[in-house]
Amino acid sequence: MKKILLFSLLTLSISCKKNRDTSFESQTVLPKSELLEKATTYFKSINSKEYEEINPNEALLGKMLYFDKRLSKKENISCNSCHDLNTFGVDNLATSPGDNGTLGARNSPTVFHASLHQMQFWDGRAKDVEEQAGGPILNPVEHNIPSEEYLVNKLKQIDFYQKWFSKVYPDSTDPITYNNITKAIGAFERKLNPQSRFDEFLDGDETVFNDQEKRGLSTFIDTGCITCHNGIAIGGQIMQKFGVYSDYWSLTQCDKIDNGLFDLTQKEADKYIFKVPGLRNVAKTAPYLHDGSIESLEKVIQIMAKAQTNIDLSAAQISDIAAFLKTLTADISDEDKKSPHEI
Ligand code: HEC
Ligand code: HEC
Repeated sequence: MKKILLFSLLTLSISCKKNRDTSFESQTVLPKSELLEKATTYFKSINSKEYEEINPNEALLGKMLYFDKRLSKKENISCNSCHDLNTFGVDNLATSPGDNGTLGARNSPTVFHASLHQMQFWDGRAKDVEEQAGGPILNPVEHNIPSEEYLVNKLKQIDFYQKWFSKVYPDSTDPITYNNITKAIGAFERKLNPQSRFDEFLDGDETVFNDQEKRGLSTFIDTGCITCHNGIAIGGQIMQKFGVYSDYWSLTQCDKIDNGLFDLTQKEADKYIFKVPGLRNVAKTAPYLHDGSIESLEKVIQIMAKAQTNIDLSAAQISDIAAFLKTLTADISDEDKKSPHEI
């Protein structure tokens, strides 16, 4: 009996000791590598932000509008035609055909993570995704809807929308308004923020990166890409000149020169100023740049280094940066990809 007691006391003390040890271990945070330390000063994980609460029904209504071709004049296209959720929010074309088949002037950027940007469009002319959504509907080379009233009247004829707008905006006696259409689409887009392997890295798990990806991140920082591509969206925060050190068209070989912000303001200083695009999902959103003139990720990295930092990167450095940029590819859920008819 005594023996047994002694034995159990012994095991108890051993197990207590063990417990103490484990709790001590779990409190010891492994030292962050210098690279992670640096990275967290320039970038923010997708999980670092407090997101505003979104009414799920408003987002669902937004998704239905996003997929509905009745929002275009001849009913040929929807937002999803150019920003296909199954292909990382883009159509992978240099420029996209609109409702009547005419090509637009600029490349379609992705809608994923767009709500994290400070401004929308290549020239930053809309402040947020809600204001942005109003643009393509009335754009003659996109949805080609003649006027706000035209669309509002059209949607009012559809029982389904009568029901859904009343459900989502119950305080309004006349809930189908242009403003509510863009608000609902915006609510849907604000949910498109899936995380990538880079977020796991920033959150502290350095094992998710291999050596090449770490070298690429390091080169991205040291080359100065981070002066423009930083923050939670790895860009999307500022407007900058494309071609700081040399004319961009001599590097891209494109035959049409786009003046960027200048076309809006007519100010000489705004020539060739474009929004710094966010780089999340960039490995999946080719072709690149405002005109979709560059097909390969490696080529656009080389052009950026030359045009924006005046550095000639080696082939190895380019391939390292490309490996890093591939870690920005988001893990998009089937839920996000599904069209609302399947919901
Ligand atoms: C015909 C193709 C087409 C359709 C349809 C279309 N877009 Fe776009 N979208 C574009 C192009 C091209 C741009 C860039 C235009 C520019 O910057 O001048 C753009 C820009 C955007 C942006 C800005 C992203 C960024 O990073 O700046 C968002 C968000 C967006 N569209 C959402 C939508 C929504 C919502 C709809 C439906 C209401 C829609 N688009 C319909 C082609 C299209
Ligand atoms: C001075 C600011 C600045 C610096 C520095 C900079 N960029 Fe950019 N980046 C831009 C702008 C502006 C664009 C959009 C150009 C356009 O298409 O008009 C862009 C576009 C890109 C694109 C294309 C994205 C897309 O969706 O089409 C990639 C990739 C890119 N940059 C990577 C890099 C890399 C890698 C570096 C470092 C070698 C770098 N950038 C340095 C401003 C900058």
